[in-house]
Amino acid sequence: MGDLETNLAGVKLRNPVILAAGTAGVVDEGAGVLGLGHVGAVVTKSITLEPREGNPTWRVAELPVGMLNAIGLANPGVERFVAEFAPRAGGVGCVVIGSIAGRRVEEYAAVAAHFAEFASTIPAIEVNVSCPNVHGGTEFAADVVALREVVRAVREVAPAQRLFVKLSPVPLGTPRSMSDLARGAIEAGADGLTLSNTMHAMAIDPRTRRPRLANVTGGLSGAAIHPVVVKLVYDVYRNVAREAGVPIIGAGGVSSWESAAEFVLAGASAVQVGTASLASPSVPRRVVRGLEKWIAQQGFASVADAVGRVRTGEDEEGEG
Ligand SMILES: Cc1cc2nc3c(=O)[nH]c(=O)nc-3n(C[C@H](O)[C@H](O)[C@H](O)COP(=O)(O)O)c2cc1C
Repeated sequence: MGDLETNLAGVKLRNPVILAAGTAGVVDEGAGVLGLGHVGAVVTKSITLEPREGNPTWRVAELPVGMLNAIGLANPGVERFVAEFAPRAGGVGCVVIGSIAGRRVEEYAAVAAHFAEFASTIPAIEVNVSCPNVHGGTEFAADVVALREVVRAVREVAPAQRLFVKLSPVPLGTPRSMSDLARGAIEAGADGLTLSNTMHAMAIDPRTRRPRLANVTGGLSGAAIHPVVVKLVYDVYRNVAREAGVPIIGAGGVSSWESAAEFVLAGASAVQVGTASLASPSVPRRVVRGLEKWIAQQGFASVADAVGRVRTGEDEEGEG
């Protein structure tokens, strides 16, 4: 069987399958059904400085191609997180990656400073600069100057943790602008990139003529965004991450080992599973088992060996 151990900028995971932020509880509430002992890591719900109730309901809608949500970062706030949730991080059975969010640079830095106290049990911080469902949630992922500022501020207060910066799919962005953002994040201190968050979207009920979400618009996740994000990973890997030696974590519509393997071939060192595990909690475990067989069948020594190995006709020197 293939070796699935994965090293994300110094953070060792037993395998490259990670439960995505916001889809597995605050830390470990999903442990019973999701089997945290089988995955490489879990990302916490994005934590903000103050507690947040989130947006009014309905805030999720199931679509034929995935799911639309406008949860609006409902979370207990950093003080309660530190008192009640963070102390459990060392015992959940897999690596815990702490997700942080905010509206202002100072807010990100304040939350990160609390997370820095838990560097031994929360070895990495995912900086969510890409939530489409809060006012001001995506500005940092659309403006390279603002992005650098937030990454630098977090880097400064959490020096012992690895920083993974989570970007948007940026539907209007060109490959070049995405690569500029990725480069900006890396130059400011990011150790990894999570690509990506949900994509701005909307669904309308034609009978009532009302939007399906009370928030009117939301973030699209699941199968619909998968090919979009595969292309994003492919571009960012080739344009920036490969040369910088910075790992990419692919997130968007992983529901099978095949969709996970696509991300790896495009350039991702690990993948996250979100929407698919809400529908079927056994998906992450099945992805792990399938990847293990695939790595062995393809003759790769490890997941790292398979990263970026899509056969496009270029870069095939030395292929067996
Ligand atoms: C219900 C729900 C809540 C989410 N909450 C967060 C969050 O708190 N922070 C974050 O960075 N991403 C959040 N996301 C985005 C996911 O982590 C992931 O990036 C996205 O859904 C794409 O992956 P998927 O297609 O496998 O779901 C959320 C997604 C869903 C569906």
